[in-house]
Amino acid sequence: MSIKIPYTPRPIWESVIHPALDSHRFAVLVCHRRFGKTVGTVNQMLKQALLCKREAPRYAYVAPFRNQAKMIAWEYLKYYSSVIPGRRVNESELYIELPSAYPPRSGARIYIIGADHPDALRGGYWDGAILDEYAQIKKELWDEVLRPALSDREGWAVFIGTPKGQNQFYETYQRALNDPAWFSCLYTVADTGIIPPDELEDMQKDMTPMAIRQELYCDFSASASDVVIPIDLVTAASKRELTEADVAGAPVILGLDVARFGDDATVLTVRKGLWCQRQQVHRGLDTMQAADVLINAINTYNPQAVFVDVGAMGAGVVDRVRQLHYRVTEVNFGGSPQDTDRYANLRAEMYFKLRKWLEDGGALPNEPTLKSELSVVEYQFARNGKIILEPKDKIKEKIGKSPDYADSLALTFAMPVFAGVSQYEPEEEEYDALARY
Ligand SMILES: Nc1ncnc2c1ncn2[C@@H]1O[C@H](COP(=O)(O)OP(=O)(O)OP(=O)(O)O)[C@@H](O)[C@H]1O
Ligand SMILES: [Mg+2]
Repeated sequence: MSIKIPYTPRPIWESVIHPALDSHRFAVLVCHRRFGKTVGTVNQMLKQALLCKREAPRYAYVAPFRNQAKMIAWEYLKYYSSVIPGRRVNESELYIELPSAYPPRSGARIYIIGADHPDALRGGYWDGAILDEYAQIKKELWDEVLRPALSDREGWAVFIGTPKGQNQFYETYQRALNDPAWFSCLYTVADTGIIPPDELEDMQKDMTPMAIRQELYCDFSASASDVVIPIDLVTAASKRELTEADVAGAPVILGLDVARFGDDATVLTVRKGLWCQRQQVHRGLDTMQAADVLINAINTYNPQAVFVDVGAMGAGVVDRVRQLHYRVTEVNFGGSPQDTDRYANLRAEMYFKLRKWLEDGGALPNEPTLKSELSVVEYQFARNGKIILEPKDKIKEKIGKSPDYADSLALTFAMPVFAGVSQYEPEEEEYDALARY
C-alpha cells in the first residue's frame, strides 16, 4: 500500500538535506529562522519511523520546553502523519504510534519531549532523535541522557537550530565540521531566498542589527539576547532559608499581578526585605474578589508598600481598593523606569532589580512554577541601546502560560521602599539618600 504524506520538501531539503540525513548518523543543521527546520526534520523522522524494520522503534523529538514542543512540533507531527491508516495518537503522553510495515513486529512510536522534562528521555533506547533549538538545551541532556540511550540501537541524532552565541550548539557544529562522520550545513537568508525580499526589508526595520545577524545570518558571534536571571541564581535562592530574625526591620512589600485571561492566575507576593515569604495563587477571580484578596493581605501583613499591575483588570482592582481607603501604588509594566538611560521600560528595570536582589542573597520559596518562570525571561538591547525584555507572548510560547508568579514578585521591585515609612512614596531625588531594599 502506498501512503502519500502531505509534505513536499523545499528544494534544498530534497536535494541536500534529506539525502544527507539518510546517509549520516549524526548531523548539525544551522539555519535561519523559518527555514523549515522543524517541518523538515519531523518529516525525516516520520519517514525513518515508517521504514524501520526493527521491533518497536522509538524516536524522540526534543525541544527546550515541553509546552513549546507541543505547540509547534506536535501539531506538525499529527498533521503529517494523519494520512497513515491505523496511526494512534496519545495526547496525554504526546506520542504517535504507527502501524508496523513488518508484522508481527510492533510499530514505531514518535515522542514529543521537552528538555525541561528530561525524565521522559531516560531509561530506554532511542532509534533516532531530533534536538530542536539546540542552542537552548543544556549540554548534559545530550552527554548524560540521550547519547547513552542511542547506543543500544546505534540510533541517529540531528541537532537543529539558529545560533545563540558560542554555546553547546556552536561547539557541536564545530565538532561536526571537523568530523567526516558527521553532516553539517549552515544556511543564511542570503543562501536560500525562503524569506521574500520585501519581508526581509521589513524585518530589518523591526529587528536590531544583532538580532538580524543572529537569526537571519546565523552569526554565532552575535548573541542578541540572554536570560535576565540565570537558573543557578534561582536554584541557590530557593535553597536559602531565612527567618524573621534575618529580615527584622525590613519593609514588607506586596505585589499583585492580576490575571488577564481565564487561564492566567492572580498571584499575590509577600516580600520582606531579602525574603520572598509567600505567594498566593488564585484563579477565576473577578475584580471584586481580587480586591478582597488584596485587602485581606493588607490587613494581615501590614505592608509598607503595595504594588498592583494595572494592565487589563488590575485597574478595576486598584479603584475598588482605593474606594475603601487603602493606599496602593499602580504599576504599569510599560511605564517609565527610574533609570531611563539604562532601561526601555519599568518591566525591564524591575526584572533587573529582582536579579540584583537574588545576587544580594534574596530567598525564594521552593516553588517550581516560580523558578521556571524566573529563569526563562530573556532581554536584549533595543536599537537605542536600552535594555528591553522579550515580550510576554514569547514567554508564553516557551512555557505555555503567562509568567504570573515571576511578574508578581517583580512587582515588589517597582519602586524603592523604605523601612518604617508606611505607604510613603518618596520624590525621585530622595531615592539615593535613603537605604534601599
Ligand atoms: N516543505 C514545506 N512545505 C510547506 N511549508 C513549509 C515547508 N517547510 C516549512 N514550511 C512552513 O514554513 C514555516 C517555517 O517552517 P518551520 O517552523 O519548520 O521553520 P523553522 O526553521 O523551524 O523556523 P523557526 O526557526 O522559526 O523555528 C512554517 O509555516 C511551515 O509550515
Ligand atoms: Mg522551528
